[in-house]
Amino acid sequence: MCGIVAYYGPDEAYDFLIKGLQRLEYRGYDSAGIALLNGDLRVYKNKGKVAELEATAKGKNLSGNRGIGHTRWATHGEPNTVNAHPHLSQSGDIALIHNGIIENYATLKKVLIERGHEFKSDTDTEVLTHLIEEIKDKENVDLLEAVRLALNEVVGAYAIVILSKNDPNTLIAARKGSPLVVGISEQAGEFFLASDATPIVEYTKTVTYINDNEIVAIQDGEMTVKTIDNEAISPFIQELKISLDALEKGGYEHFMLKEIFEQPKSIYDSMRGRFDPQNLNFAMQSLTEYASKIKNLDRIIIVACGTSWHAGLVGEYLIEEFGRIPVEVEYASEFRYRNPIITEDDLVIAISQSGETADTLAALEMAKEKGATIYGICNVVGSSIPRMTHAGAYTHAGPEIGVASTKAFTAQVSVLTLLALGIADIRGKIARERLREVFAELDTIPQKVEELLQSCNEKCKEIAAAYVDAPNCLYLGRGYNFPVALEGALKLKEISYIHAEGYPAAEMKHGPIALIDENMPVVVIATKRNYYEKVLSNIQEVKARKGKIIAVVTEGDEKVSEIADHYIEIPDTEDCLTPLLATIPLQLLSYYIAVMRGCNVDQPRNLAKSVTVE
Ligand code: AGP
Repeated sequence: MCGIVAYYGPDEAYDFLIKGLQRLEYRGYDSAGIALLNGDLRVYKNKGKVAELEATAKGKNLSGNRGIGHTRWATHGEPNTVNAHPHLSQSGDIALIHNGIIENYATLKKVLIERGHEFKSDTDTEVLTHLIEEIKDKENVDLLEAVRLALNEVVGAYAIVILSKNDPNTLIAARKGSPLVVGISEQAGEFFLASDATPIVEYTKTVTYINDNEIVAIQDGEMTVKTIDNEAISPFIQELKISLDALEKGGYEHFMLKEIFEQPKSIYDSMRGRFDPQNLNFAMQSLTEYASKIKNLDRIIIVACGTSWHAGLVGEYLIEEFGRIPVEVEYASEFRYRNPIITEDDLVIAISQSGETADTLAALEMAKEKGATIYGICNVVGSSIPRMTHAGAYTHAGPEIGVASTKAFTAQVSVLTLLALGIADIRGKIARERLREVFAELDTIPQKVEELLQSCNEKCKEIAAAYVDAPNCLYLGRGYNFPVALEGALKLKEISYIHAEGYPAAEMKHGPIALIDENMPVVVIATKRNYYEKVLSNIQEVKARKGKIIAVVTEGDEKVSEIADHYIEIPDTEDCLTPLLATIPLQLLSYYIAVMRGCNVDQPRNLAKSVTVE
């Protein structure tokens, strides 16, 4: 994880660096630091957030029109000031920031120590600064060549940016496995570098995404790109589509709340132009291009992590129901390490909001090597996963800043719904009349989400107040509502630190029922069309043991609402579309509980938005 920013240009770097780090803070917030170059090379860094870095820097010399900045999610070494980036070389002349992991750092460090190097931190990163400097001095090469040679000795993942006191007109950056984008200003000789485009969009919309094994050199106001094997590259320059407004809180107290309330639009955007409910057509290029492959598929494997994995489970139910193809949903991190059987006839779908999750990327790489067709469902445009897949569909949910995924989940489920229907259509597994019905209902979902947000917000707040001190919580659901239960539990635990578990409702009697007493809140998704009577029996079982029931029910419900301690109504819909609605109150419930407990909902402890380490 970690966020990196850098500035090279005619203006002062400091403001861009601080603002940029604030935008990237979702990637990690254990510590923050900057280095500024203006004749001398000054480093300011500390444990904690960017706001604390600003306090540290206040009143100091902040001049410099070259600068680098870093916000850290600790991997090697505890999150303290010494381990914060930037790190300096032995002489103190080279400063470097890094996102990723240098896997062979211990071996390199041992050799460097034997040669007299002294290290200040416990990080893998510091090794790289020493190595670059040693190569530069010993081989008598320039900074760019020293970086290139050093990277040839490194095993691992990185996005790095380097400044050197002795090369004031040079800034070097490189990427392997961790994202890096360069913004090119209209002002000659001005460049902005960052882990993603969010710090850059305010300054320029012209960018180039750096590829793995590429090194960028900005020297005397000109940018060049080459590979670590020394081959020149012509960078692909493109225009950013994101707007600045999408990166602000827009009057909401937290990004998470804003993103929950954006769902009518994000769900709409994820489907916009992709299906025609009147003429029953699809306009998904990826489906058309791969139609013959889809016709002959024997199996689909979905790989993802966290919330995206929950969306994958909904995808499994959808694709099996409509497309009638067996689907396996795998945790990306496990899939890669258990020697799975993958053939050229498989379609492997990766789901990822960030498009940068290291576990998902690694699983995809393996599937690609084994000849599978790989397909991405991602939110961040230009991120690593879409760039390595054969085909895919962006979710178009807009930037998601809150670490807890909300609108990305519902957008993923919307795209998976279209994908499942598209696959079914290509394979002739869905009657036109049924397709018409599901399309018609899908078309109403953004409006229903809008109404639901208005109708359930206050209720969720009230219920949250009653459970703010609960130490545990169970979430139960059946069929399409089982992944919703898992997602509800994940949301609660990650932002409120209340221990929560999601289970298939019927599975409760095989163990978790032992936990139920008068102190155990149980959130049950008990909607009309999803095994209602069976779930009702599960609710009775909880009530018989004095558990507290918070039920999500269909509007007009009479039976569950009668016996539940609290209930939240959602609009009626097709059972396959229930996750798009039932998820909403669970997001709000978690949000309000976390806020009432005084938790930092946008940046929960120990977490980061893009998990770029395995
Ligand atoms: C979601 O609330 C989580 N913070 C997390 O589980 C996330 O979904 C997971 O890390 C996967 O991220 P991705 O979608 O960017 O790949």
